[in-house]
Amino acid sequence: MAAAGDKETETLPAQAGDVACIVLAAGKSTRMRSKTPKTLHPVCGLPLIAHILDALENASVHRRVVVVGHQADVVRNTLDARYSGGDGTLEYALQAEQKGTGHAVQQAEPLLSTHNGTVLVVPGDAPLLTSDALRALIATHLATGAGATLLTAVLPTDAGAYGRVLRDADGSVLSIVEAKDATPEQLALREINTSVYAFQGTSLFRALRDLRPNNVQGELYLTDVIALLREAGQKIGAVIAPDPDMVLGVNTRVELAEVNEKMRRRLLRDLMLGGVTVVDPATTYMDAGVTVGQDSVIHPHTILRGDTCIGEDCIIGPYAHIESARIGNAVVARACFIEKADIADECRIGPYAHVRPQSRLERKVRIGNFVETKAAHLREGVAAGHLTYLGDAEVGAGTNIGAGTITANFDYYTKQKHRTIIGAHTSISSHTTLVAPVTVADGAATAAGSVITYDVPEGALGIARERQTIKEEWVTAKQRAALSEAANSGEKGTQHG
Ligand code: UD1
Ligand code: CA
Repeated sequence: MAAAGDKETETLPAQAGDVACIVLAAGKSTRMRSKTPKTLHPVCGLPLIAHILDALENASVHRRVVVVGHQADVVRNTLDARYSGGDGTLEYALQAEQKGTGHAVQQAEPLLSTHNGTVLVVPGDAPLLTSDALRALIATHLATGAGATLLTAVLPTDAGAYGRVLRDADGSVLSIVEAKDATPEQLALREINTSVYAFQGTSLFRALRDLRPNNVQGELYLTDVIALLREAGQKIGAVIAPDPDMVLGVNTRVELAEVNEKMRRRLLRDLMLGGVTVVDPATTYMDAGVTVGQDSVIHPHTILRGDTCIGEDCIIGPYAHIESARIGNAVVARACFIEKADIADECRIGPYAHVRPQSRLERKVRIGNFVETKAAHLREGVAAGHLTYLGDAEVGAGTNIGAGTITANFDYYTKQKHRTIIGAHTSISSHTTLVAPVTVADGAATAAGSVITYDVPEGALGIARERQTIKEEWVTAKQRAALSEAANSGEKGTQHG
């Protein structure tokens, strides 16, 4: 028996090009109690099934037939959005009625009738399966010339609802028995069927014709093919997965959370081994598509989503939520929310900043406390330190945005957004409202508290507020009046006392 992941077995022989795979994803997934098909529930940001499809691609299995059935269109459309075009295109077989895993594989036969090499079968609900384990399974299968090779796992404790692998006294595989059909002695076995198999294709499809639904669920079990092949004199091989976690199948939302947690730990581990400091893995979340450069430090309570790409030497968090953003090198982003934005080297974001979609921050931009940007292009060195909204705006290099500046971009009646153009090296003083569309040209300034409704030309000061007036002696007159009032009421007080 070989163990998946053995270094010697990882390189595939030349026949590897003949491997096709059937991915089972037609089931009703009743136990999820969900309107969304099980295989589309996200695990670290990707549909559960995408992890398996990616692992297959990384194991050089390029023909991938997905058996769809329950909510077939939803599954297909989601997968096509991700995989269509090029070598990665998927093929589909429809299992209109869910009559079991064996029946599901039968539906793929027409697509693979001319394929006489290896046929892998994998479940659509086991996202932790790795490409290394798949490669090891294929290599062992090809090297031993077995009719079928199973990927099994030995679970540390109770094997629950998994199918049990039955072996004879010599240790060779006899059959698989489903938990629902097993005797108490069989249930005590801890070696389980992972539902990942390598078959000799023609033998598989021949054996499938002999399946009968003689079981508690009245289904055609793919697992029964093993005993049928064995009875037909074929050799059955088995590869034990080095890590039993790898084969966890998601059947309930409890298992979905467990699998998410394991995938998250795996991704964080890879990140750390790649040279990124993760201060507290327990409170750091990341999606499968995230990349982070060397010597960046991820502080606690940070969430990195989508295809976020972070450069080197950055300080991220604590409390940063970054979604599908490009972040350059040496960026500091603390306690902030960044979505679909492009942030260049040496920017400083936060704390308490919200960088919204289509924000583009060039080098050394500084976005501080309670500053929000949306579809704003901030050129090099722009600083907006406090309490500001910059939406649909263009800000030239070196400009300072004073505290409390607002771009009034939204016309409620036409529902249109208007642009604010601010030139380079301008000084937008505190509490300026820029009523868009409006332009403040290069080197211009606004006076604090101005409501700017007309363009301010280059080098000019735009001032739009009431001139201050001074009322001499106003306070002292008030005070004097108040004092004599008090004196009068005091006299009255003594009269009545
Ligand atoms: C299956 C195996 C079990 C194994 C376990 C590993 C069988 C009979 N049992 O059980 O031995 O330990 O996986 O996780 O194969 N599907 C279809 N069409 C169907 C039924 C299922 O496409 O008619 C798909 C499901 O969508 C799922 C996969 O096949 O992706 C496995 O089906 P599931 O019902 O989860 O099987 P288990 O009971 O987990
Ligand atoms: Ca399952």
